[in-house]
Amino acid sequence: MTAIKKSKTCELEIIDLAFGGKGLAKPEGFPVFVDRCIPGDLACVKIIKKKKSWAEGKLIKILKPSSSRHTGKCRYCNYCGGCKWQELSYDLQLEYKKRHVIESLHHIGRLKDVKVNDVLASDLVYEYRNKMEFSCSPKRWLMPEELENEEIIKDFGIGLHVPGTFDKVIDIRQCEIMPGLGNRILETVRNFIKTSGLLAYDLKTHEGFWRFLMLRHSVAFDTWMVNIVTRDKRQDVVSDLSDLLTREFLQIESVMYNITDSKSGVSTGKEEICLFGKDHIKEKLGNLVFKISANSFFQTNTRSCEKLYAKVAEYAGLKGDETVLDLYSGTGTIPIWLSGRAKQVYGIEIVKSAVVDAKTNASLNNIENCEFLEGDIKDVLPGLKIIPDVMIIDPPRVGMHKDVVSQVLSIGPSKIVYVSCNPATLARDLEMISQKYEVMEIQPVDMFPHTYHIESVALLLKK
Ligand SMILES: C[S@@+](CC[C@H](N)C(=O)[O-])C[C@H]1O[C@@H](n2cnc3c(N)ncnc32)[C@H](O)[C@@H]1O
Repeated sequence: MTAIKKSKTCELEIIDLAFGGKGLAKPEGFPVFVDRCIPGDLACVKIIKKKKSWAEGKLIKILKPSSSRHTGKCRYCNYCGGCKWQELSYDLQLEYKKRHVIESLHHIGRLKDVKVNDVLASDLVYEYRNKMEFSCSPKRWLMPEELENEEIIKDFGIGLHVPGTFDKVIDIRQCEIMPGLGNRILETVRNFIKTSGLLAYDLKTHEGFWRFLMLRHSVAFDTWMVNIVTRDKRQDVVSDLSDLLTREFLQIESVMYNITDSKSGVSTGKEEICLFGKDHIKEKLGNLVFKISANSFFQTNTRSCEKLYAKVAEYAGLKGDETVLDLYSGTGTIPIWLSGRAKQVYGIEIVKSAVVDAKTNASLNNIENCEFLEGDIKDVLPGLKIIPDVMIIDPPRVGMHKDVVSQVLSIGPSKIVYVSCNPATLARDLEMISQKYEVMEIQPVDMFPHTYHIESVALLLKK
């Protein structure tokens, strides 16, 4: 019997980091997970969940900080859901990320002897994100030093969510993982909204107007896209904001306006209007140019993305006469990256606008050997007449549908390169694929410094 009881407060020594980024304590061998703690911390913790074989604790206070702790750059890092690992040195972050990949392979995929390389680090550890999405809320989450301040406006905030309070946001003034100008754009939008006379959207009541501000930055061209999302259509109001922004910031190349009354928290509009400039921005990966629309998927760390794709190309080992099939092809970035080294590359993607972007991206780069098919992979694959030599698979966080795994196994290309942003589903899918394929090597690539997230590329050869 453990002494750990729900609602009780206890002193715990954090001995490890668990997947999901939480600190792990093991009083009398009983695992307790505590958010925002790192190994070496002595913490005062309140037990908020107690199960048979584990418990979850809420950090009340760090009693003695770990010697690995250092001060995070961001003033919100102990509260915001964004970068919870800022107080851990970057070298240690990389070490833990590699371990999470190895442990997921062991525990979830029962794959014990796979070679996992050291993580390829991100060149930038701050200002690395090329896309940020800030939510508007009529319930501002107050920082401890703001609690007693009577002058603070509490019925509006624009920023990032606090974990566990889905409808409250921290009013973020300075986000360190976005390039600097983004914070100035955010400030101008905040001031405009405050004097607009229109309310922020409330996720509980579904009332209110302002929903999201999405910013995209092109590293290669140093230009910005601003995307404003509201519940109702008030083009007059949002055009005024667009005019203000484009007068103040010459780097803004595109202002998009998305309107959605959808009750889910998604920012894709039911209607989309281009208020200024083009309906996309351009970015470069290597020497290739890509068009990115407001709602298309594009890897969020541009320079790390190049490292990731270089690894994909290395593992694909193309000689020039191969047929390549890329599953989950997004805006066509991987097929286009590989096009110069293969005979023909096909991509399959479910989102129509991404397929349209992929075709445009191919012609933008004068590429003629890429073809993009639209649809759900599990429906498209069975009717496909292509016999690929190499298959690239880059699914979303949830991994592959099990029917798709069976389809891939029956197609049986000689080589598979699997790209994953989630070690848990990577391990699950590789276990299934390893019935017929040998997992040769895995290369983790860090796209997301200060978070526990890690991207991986795996090379699989047919047995
Ligand atoms: C992780 S992204 C990879 C995109 C691309 N490889 C890249 O690097 O930018 C996953 C992509 O899979 C697409 N997707 C998700 N489920 C799908 C499905 N069932 N069939 C086809 N595409 C799907 C998403 O729309 C998204 O573009």
